[in-house]
Amino acid sequence: SHTPTPEDKFSFGIWTVGWDARDVFGDATRAPIPAERAVHKLAELGAYGVNFHDNDVFAFDESDRDERVSAFRKALEATGLVVTTATTNLFSHPVFKDGGFTSNDRDVRRFALAKVMRNLDLAAELSAKVYVCWGGREGAESGAAKDVRAALDRYKEAFDILGSYVLDQGYDLRFAIEPKPNEPRGDILLPTIGHALAFIEELEHPELVGLNPEVGHEEMAGLNFAHGISQALWHDKLFHIDLNGQHGPRYDQDLRFGAGNVRGAFWTVDALETGGYDGPVHFDFKPPRTEDDEGVWESAKACMTNYLILREKVRAFRADPEVSTALETARVPELAVPTLAPGEDWRTLRYVTIDADALGTRGMAFERLDQLALEHLYGVR
Ligand code: GCO
Ligand code: MN
Ligand code: MN
Ligand code: MN
Repeated sequence: SHTPTPEDKFSFGIWTVGWDARDVFGDATRAPIPAERAVHKLAELGAYGVNFHDNDVFAFDESDRDERVSAFRKALEATGLVVTTATTNLFSHPVFKDGGFTSNDRDVRRFALAKVMRNLDLAAELSAKVYVCWGGREGAESGAAKDVRAALDRYKEAFDILGSYVLDQGYDLRFAIEPKPNEPRGDILLPTIGHALAFIEELEHPELVGLNPEVGHEEMAGLNFAHGISQALWHDKLFHIDLNGQHGPRYDQDLRFGAGNVRGAFWTVDALETGGYDGPVHFDFKPPRTEDDEGVWESAKACMTNYLILREKVRAFRADPEVSTALETARVPELAVPTLAPGEDWRTLRYVTIDADALGTRGMAFERLDQLALEHLYGVR
């Protein structure tokens, strides 16, 4: 069935459905949706959890913090929705125009870290397990403005400070870095999954930090998202995921999941389902500016429906006996066999010879295999 249930572990950012549809060129086309209304509506649609920025719930000046947090908490209690994840808004206020953790302005960096620590307290109180860090403003539009190596020193310092904070407070929270190549900055630091993976290894507590890759962000960089998350899984670093849709390298479209690159979405679901990902199946999309309130919920529901449709197709593909045969013919299972046999080392291989010309004529039969996948996706199998 394509009806979501809490067992599917679908979650949404409060800011996704809550977006008032203001863009760079035009004013808001919808009224903003308060966190508690988003929680009630998402629960009705069959979601399991939510993710929130501090300022999705309360104002930047925090004057309404207690009252807004208690309304949010009440909605969570009434619906049983779980807070899986939390994050910080380090991008809307003008103070963050040159970034939070890597602003050239040291006062801003100190304030940004305090803001994150305050919301880590709330995240822990609400039992979130993952804390997302999207460094949307960490970057530059021009060359000399940013000393990239110094910025990476400060980026590392930020995660080292926050790592000791959660350890000292005894919080059961891990961080997930969300890479993005550009927008809103001309060039953002940690632009792809690969950059972020390498960065994490330089931290004081690499075990506390993983990734929150977003479909659209990798595709904006022209990269294969399924390959990216497979590598993140291989490193045990896929702590969270932002599913949405994107049509190739252009502005960040944040389409509902399953729209945009449909074939990429099929392999994304396959990578999650076969790769052992067990975190929340999280959507970070924006209902387009053309939609009214009804369109917002239509769009949110469709993220889950599309995931369930693709999951069914992926499972049918993997269970199809013709696919098993095609995988064998394509020697896919053979890739799991180590190149050396037990007891061998380089000495055994040093003088190996083959009939390269004969092996070079052997086809890989990938077209047959891929056509089977497409036929499952197209719905004729
Ligand atoms: C984007 C990003 C953001 C972040 C979110 C979490 O579209 O560029 O996905 O939406 O995920 O703000 O901080
Ligand atoms: Mn995005
Ligand atoms: Mn995102
Ligand atoms: Mn987004």
